Amino acid sequence: MNNNDTIKKTLIVAVSLCLVCSALISFSAVELRDLQEANKTLDKQSKILSAAGLLDSSTDVTEQFKSIQARIVNLETGEFDSAINIEDYDEGSFSRNPSTSIELSSEKDIALLKRRENFQTVYLHYEQQDLNAIILPVRGYGLWGTMKGYLALEPDLKTVIGLEFFEHIETPGLGGEIDNPRWKAIWKGKEIYSDSGEVLITVIKGSVDKNSSNAKYQVDGLSGATITSNGVTNLLSFWLGDMGYGPLISQLKNQELKDV
Ligand SMILES: Cc1cc2nc3c(=O)[nH]c(=O)nc-3n(C[C@H](O)[C@H](O)[C@H](O)COP(=O)(O)O)c2cc1C
Repeated sequence: MNNNDTIKKTLIVAVSLCLVCSALISFSAVELRDLQEANKTLDKQSKILSAAGLLDSSTDVTEQFKSIQARIVNLETGEFDSAINIEDYDEGSFSRNPSTSIELSSEKDIALLKRRENFQTVYLHYEQQDLNAIILPVRGYGLWGTMKGYLALEPDLKTVIGLEFFEHIETPGLGGEIDNPRWKAIWKGKEIYSDSGEVLITVIKGSVDKNSSNAKYQVDGLSGATITSNGVTNLLSFWLGDMGYGPLISQLKNQELKDV
């Protein structure tokens, strides 16, 4: 028998190979973590710019993002809060921590979030000191999981500029069509609130009847993906209502929207 064909040697080779491979995987996971985080941040920045119709694909995203101001808002009062450092804010940990979030009753939890953080980051874009767009983080459950995105509103605080999702696990070709540029384009110019301030925006089943008096509050449904479509309606109803940015929007309506 060849000297190399012993059980001992076979085990030594197999174990060594496992050790080398696991060391390589651990090393690349640690080394790439920062890069992955940087890419996630870049993707979010480009989605924020894109929702507000500001993304110029020929220019560096980080450079363009310098035109956006991030502010922390207290969702209870609707007031901006400068006590929390924007760099320290993390939506995930704020929404899990009982001291920085509230539990939602099933009646209020229409976006299926379970808890809602008491603070959020909102993004403002000014043009020559006048507010040009406000971009609001939104999230809620679709069919398979939580869909996270940004809704940009005009300075009238009721007309949509755009809606972009940066994270979801809906099925490509069905619920995943929330990323379809043709569907996203329908959102521009749609209105969120009735004159009395009720959230009316809805993704309907089928196509919007352009002659209907409600057409400005309605978006075509995604075919074969009614559950995802309803999820989008529900997350917007939640975040634009009293439990979300309703108090902020009321506050801003009473202010002169100038960059100071
Ligand atoms: C494999 C598979 C994946 C699906 N993915 C989605 C999805 O991402 N979003 C969704 O709303 N419905 C999805 N559906 C369909 C739903 O189960 C459901 O039938 C649909 O939402 C009903 O929409 P409709 O009334 O427009 O047909 C999927 C179905 C299957 C079998």
